[in-house]
Amino acid sequence: MKPIQVGLLGIGTVGSGTFNVLERNQDEIRRRAGRGIEIAMVADLDTARARSVVGDKAKVVGDAREIIANPDIDVVVELIGGYGIAKALVLEAIAAGKHVVTANKALLAVHGTEIFKAAAEKGVIVAFEAAVAGGIPIIKALREGLTANEIQWVAGIINGTTNFILSEMRDKGLDFDVVLKEAQRLGYAEADPTFDIEGVDAAHKATLISAIAFGIPVQFDKAYVEGITKLSAADIRYAEQLGYRIKLLGITKRADKGIELRVHPSLVPAKRLIANVEGAMNAVVVHGDAVGATLYYGKGAGSEPTASAVIADLVDIARLHDADPAHRVPPLAFQSHTLGAAGK
Ligand code: HSE
Repeated sequence: MKPIQVGLLGIGTVGSGTFNVLERNQDEIRRRAGRGIEIAMVADLDTARARSVVGDKAKVVGDAREIIANPDIDVVVELIGGYGIAKALVLEAIAAGKHVVTANKALLAVHGTEIFKAAAEKGVIVAFEAAVAGGIPIIKALREGLTANEIQWVAGIINGTTNFILSEMRDKGLDFDVVLKEAQRLGYAEADPTFDIEGVDAAHKATLISAIAFGIPVQFDKAYVEGITKLSAADIRYAEQLGYRIKLLGITKRADKGIELRVHPSLVPAKRLIANVEGAMNAVVVHGDAVGATLYYGKGAGSEPTASAVIADLVDIARLHDADPAHRVPPLAFQSHTLGAAGK
């Protein structure tokens, strides 16, 4: 079968990881996908950087629209981030009949309804495993592994930067600002780190989890969001003395009046597994009525962990590309049957 042709928009940390893992594991990936997956084109403003990653194995262009206009490209992978140009390009790619894979949680949490509607109308797939908890396959767990369950609640550490900051403040008694700089140096933090420390990044991810878990529209504007900037070293110490750890949790659950969706610092009993998730690691607990509590743990950011999720989506698309669009799993099952508004 003809290999799937991929166009990559942005070849920074995650883009280069995607290219490298696809190269390294190509035989295994081809076997699993049932066909090859080839990065045929790469667009990046820094074409020299792009060429240094892909060599002569893919065509490098400076204009993303050259990829979208190319009829040979089957899938566009958006790794630009943010709401601006990324939104325009994703919608243009869908309009051109391309499947889209994105790691852009901010874009989907805020504009997901518009994007998924456009994709459903066009019969293409928008896949976003990499947008939530990096390498942890939490979207797949919710949509596939736990599909028999009524999901009751999901709670997780879904921002590595803030977990790293809280861990370092506790273990080393370091100041918030010092640890934030270190998180930026290590590449965990968003371009705008206020998204991390104010809980916005975690809320973007919790919004997507909530939509998948409960079949509701993405409703970032309904989320309660509180970050870690008001926490002091003393708060962390006192919590410790009382037998708790402070964790920034993203929580979504069924409640009497609808679905709760919130992000805030939480006191977690120190003996719980999730309380012992340290550094930039992520962990998500999902509670289903049949399965009970399940825990997913791993790297929530970084080049190859996030690439692992991007490629998982590419493999899904490679398997479904030739299927009748009516038989492709819809991007999200949250068209009209809302369970009630997520509540502040
Ligand atoms: N800034 C994010 C984090 C990166 O710290 O978790 C991955 O989404």
